[in-house]
Amino acid sequence: MSTLLTVENLHVSYQRAITALTGVSLSVDSGQIVAILGANGAGKTTTLRAISGFIGLDNARVTQGSIRFDGTELARRPPYQITRQGIALVPERDKVFPNLSVHENLEVVSSRSDGAERARLQDLVYTHFPRLGALKKREAGLLSGGERQMLALGSAIVCAPRLMLIDELSLGLAPVIVEEIVEHLKSIRTDLGLTILLVEQSAAVAFRLAERAFVMEHGGVVLSGSSAELESNDAVRNAYLGTGSEGRRSYRDLAMARDKELKA
Ligand SMILES: Nc1ncnc2c1ncn2[C@@H]1O[C@H](COP(=O)(O)OP(=O)(O)OP(=O)(O)O)[C@@H](O)[C@H]1O
Ligand SMILES: [Mg+2]
Repeated sequence: MSTLLTVENLHVSYQRAITALTGVSLSVDSGQIVAILGANGAGKTTTLRAISGFIGLDNARVTQGSIRFDGTELARRPPYQITRQGIALVPERDKVFPNLSVHENLEVVSSRSDGAERARLQDLVYTHFPRLGALKKREAGLLSGGERQMLALGSAIVCAPRLMLIDELSLGLAPVIVEEIVEHLKSIRTDLGLTILLVEQSAAVAFRLAERAFVMEHGGVVLSGSSAELESNDAVRNAYLGTGSEGRRSYRDLAMARDKELKA
């Protein structure tokens, strides 16, 4: 399998003062789904922003390191150039235009000028997310959290990206909706030959969806491996998944519990 994205020794600081990333290295193979796990403030969002180029707005800069996408260096490029390379970001917040309808949201971001291709991609979104098909005329601001996430994913899909970056896939969504989204994403990936890098708070969700995962702490990657490896690794289980009666807890809860243990 060929490597599509390689991030090497990436350093990012905000306002020339706050160093958010202190040497992140990770890679994503073509066609894979890869997850980034980590506690609050670990630098997950900053990593996705740096890859997509959407960091200048917060006065953040890549100060060191490289981001290579299919052989092209992307670090410090403006976001519109990165989008043209085929990278789409589904951000954590403000992911849809609230005053536009569901269909208008897809129309406004459809980058394909070719009408048939536009229609094909929009149909693909409606086929994979039938809920959206039933809500075409609904104002996006009135959608539920799950529907909004589906629309955000759909808005990225109509851009026909080669790499989709998703920040906080399941945050704030009911488990049954997460289940639905995970299944749809898997089939869309197969249909489109898409590569996905996602940030996920729930290790359980991440391991179910992704083939590989990277665990971030304090601005760097501290662990990586296949989902199966990480899930069966005792240290990871204790630290990130909880065992026995703790069952399926979110990574955020576990990280907090772990911090408490460390302080105790
Ligand atoms: N706009 C900003 N200005 C200054 N510092 C910021 C800004 N955004 C993030 N940071 C800092 O950068 C570090 C990494 O933040 P980031 O948002 O990337 O973490 P995260 O892993 O996505 O966390 P969360 O799980 O809470 O979303 C944190 O210390 C954070 O306080
Ligand atoms: Mg974040």
